[in-house]
Amino acid sequence: MTNVRELTSQAPTNLPERSSSSPHILASPEEVAANEIVLEVKDLCIEFHDHKLPERVVENFNLVLHKGEIMGIVGESGSGKSMSALAIAGLLNRKTISKSGQILFEDKDFLNCDRRCLRKYQGDEISIIFQEPMTSLNPLHRIGRQVEESLRIHHPRLSKARRYELAIYTMRAVGLPEPEKVYRMYPHELSGGMRQRAMIAAAMIGDPKILIADEPTTALDVTIQAQIIDLLKEINVSQGTAILFISHDLSLVEQLCHRVIVMQQGKIIETGITHDVFTNPQEAYTKALIDAIPKVEL
Ligand SMILES: Nc1ncnc2c1ncn2[C@@H]1O[C@H](COP(=O)(O)OP(=O)(O)OP(=O)(O)O)[C@@H](O)[C@H]1O
Ligand SMILES: [Mg+2]
Repeated sequence: MTNVRELTSQAPTNLPERSSSSPHILASPEEVAANEIVLEVKDLCIEFHDHKLPERVVENFNLVLHKGEIMGIVGESGSGKSMSALAIAGLLNRKTISKSGQILFEDKDFLNCDRRCLRKYQGDEISIIFQEPMTSLNPLHRIGRQVEESLRIHHPRLSKARRYELAIYTMRAVGLPEPEKVYRMYPHELSGGMRQRAMIAAAMIGDPKILIADEPTTALDVTIQAQIIDLLKEINVSQGTAILFISHDLSLVEQLCHRVIVMQQGKIIETGITHDVFTNPQEAYTKALIDAIPKVEL
């Protein structure tokens, strides 16, 4: 996949085709650990104040993410995975939610940035994709318009023709067939897998440095799931995009992630190189999670 950011500044004359089904070999955890740090989260705490008593849902969440690194986050339902991800993406801004700590990206601390500053990065440098595309795609707008959305916000001087060209390029790059046709379709006219690809295209069109994927394949059948995982690998390998991959599926995390964070009741209880954590878990809770992975008997 070509760097979309380059295409926003240069006239794409000869748009490359999506690469064939060549396997995408991930860099090793040691290799990515030597790369520059793209995100650092320090002592993130999140508290809800919807009721009389404040409810702390994330406590002292720490994370260092390098360029090209895929970090998995696993843990039981309600353990604070999505809340941490939403805070990092700058999407947890309700008045009844208090946050403390630091979310450092480049020279900015997202937790202490105003909305204007946050908007500069959201959807451009940091993008998020969710489990169910129907909740994030607007049913009333055509796919093309939604794929282009972040260009409209972050590159307002781009011509309509160039936006279209980039949308088609990105839709093709994420494996949407007949992108010119899909561009004019509405979300309900697409299959679940195509909708998920459209959402990934919308997240990737600005060539983000960080992609947060919160259960991106849970709603999909296994074949489509494998294709989406392959697409995330491709994006990671060809663009160097760092990915925060939240999943209940530990075997997917084992295949895809360089390192993994295990959360329980709002806290990180274990973290390390995925292979090490999976082969030698230190915490009983992690061990129980790993033991619950269905094994294929041959
Ligand atoms: N509006 C709210 N007020 C109070 N607590 C909330 C609110 N929304 C979510 N929570 C709580 O925050 C905690 C963390 O939720 P979060 O969505 O991050 O969990 P999760 O690990 O992503 O779970 P899942 O695997 O089910 O997606 C949960 O205990 C949840 O009940
Ligand atoms: Mg969640």
